[in-house]
Amino acid sequence: MKNIPVIMIIFGGSGDLAHRKLYPSLFNLYEQGLIHDNFAVIGTARRPWSHEYLREQVSDAIHETHDQVDENEVKAFASHFYYQSHDVTNVEHYVTLKKLAQELDDRYSAQGNCLFYMAMAPRFFGTIATHINDQHLTGSGFNRIVVEKPFGHDLVSAEQLNKEITASFDENDIFRIDHYLGKEMIQNIMPMRFTNPLIKNIWSGEYIKNIQITLAERLGVEARGGYYDTSGALRDMVQNHIFQIITLLAMPEPKDLSSDSVHQAKQELLKSLIIPTPEEVKKNFVRGQYLGSDTTFAYKKEPNVDPDSTTETYVAGKTKFTSGPIAGVPIYFRTGKEFKEKKTRIDIVLKHINNPYGQAHSNNITIEVDPESKIYITINGKKIDEPGIRREDLTYVFSKEEMAKVPDGYERLLHDVFVNDSTNFTHWSELKRYWEFIDAVEDAWQKENEAGNPEIAQYLPYRMGPKEADNIFESPTEHWIYE
Ligand code: BG6
Repeated sequence: MKNIPVIMIIFGGSGDLAHRKLYPSLFNLYEQGLIHDNFAVIGTARRPWSHEYLREQVSDAIHETHDQVDENEVKAFASHFYYQSHDVTNVEHYVTLKKLAQELDDRYSAQGNCLFYMAMAPRFFGTIATHINDQHLTGSGFNRIVVEKPFGHDLVSAEQLNKEITASFDENDIFRIDHYLGKEMIQNIMPMRFTNPLIKNIWSGEYIKNIQITLAERLGVEARGGYYDTSGALRDMVQNHIFQIITLLAMPEPKDLSSDSVHQAKQELLKSLIIPTPEEVKKNFVRGQYLGSDTTFAYKKEPNVDPDSTTETYVAGKTKFTSGPIAGVPIYFRTGKEFKEKKTRIDIVLKHINNPYGQAHSNNITIEVDPESKIYITINGKKIDEPGIRREDLTYVFSKEEMAKVPDGYERLLHDVFVNDSTNFTHWSELKRYWEFIDAVEDAWQKENEAGNPEIAQYLPYRMGPKEADNIFESPTEHWIYE
């Protein structure tokens, strides 16, 4: 693997994301030689840390995520890290940062290549982008920027942020990260759809009755009440992760696997995304909040949450496209906190066919993303000792050995940023379309809130969410496959 020369600046270098995900992933890429002699990382944050202290943190992060490591390697890796105490609103600090980046560029022969990583509170993204531009922080080589989610709070704020970022970076150099696109089974959707005649040939409204996507979480909002109460499940999970999955499931086949072709196919599809009217939102969407239990708080009692909050910790909804291979097929989705279990899965439900045996079970193709990686197809067969049809699953489960080989999503996506592959990142025109959809739902809800009659279903923790979500189906023969 080639050794990419680069100076990486992480805004939010003392944060949780850097510690849990970025430092361990960078170490793995270092071990593979993708970054090696010619790189340095500057971690910035407000805290008054020293270079040495940051290096200790980096080393701790690696030990916490790796069973066995060569201590000399960890030390050598950590020696590439530098810390700069930084107030994102202070112009002077950007001047100092630029000086340090230039010094390190010389010392490590990084060829003027810069990678900026926005890993701090999203409210600072615009300010940072503006200062990068005003203080000319970009280098003379490649300049790339990775932006964490959420990218904006609605379409207007996303457009503003995009303007601030594109002042210094070309669209091709902006990597809007969505960690779901780094997951093994999400990356498996395209090969599954396009290489198997068994699947490809039935991928149409003629055979598919509906598609169901569930992103269920066992955890509540935990310590993130402050952020979450301004976001809610629709913005936190649907705007990004669920829409990325929907797009991969519904897009036409790209002409090849280049990043441009994949994005082109996605954009072609998204033009035909149906944006719901307020009436459709009322009919096809359910929002909910979890109640408390003996040992857990109700959402409204969580720390930093408004006791009168109308923010949803659960949402179920429906969408459709007017073009593409599954035009007209209803796509149902749901996501929520404090579900019975952590489970990310996609169910493709096929239509029944007339047959001489009478009733048969539907064929479903299920892709389980988390916690296990597996694919299973339900099929009908003969009962052994009595007349009739029984249902069996054809299952492919990834073995422990295979799973051990799967890199963490962040490692994969960071790798792609270094090698300049944008395939698994969100293009601006896709993001824009997702926000148009989300805004339509949020606006309808907002009007209900203002009219004083918001319909917010209350649900018991650690079950399957609000029962109202059973009523969003188009026909009485449809129901949630995962129950
Ligand atoms: C994040 C959300 O994007 O995804 C969190 O902000 C959520 O609220 C998380 O918990 C879920 O990710 P995963 O990979 O655990 O399914």
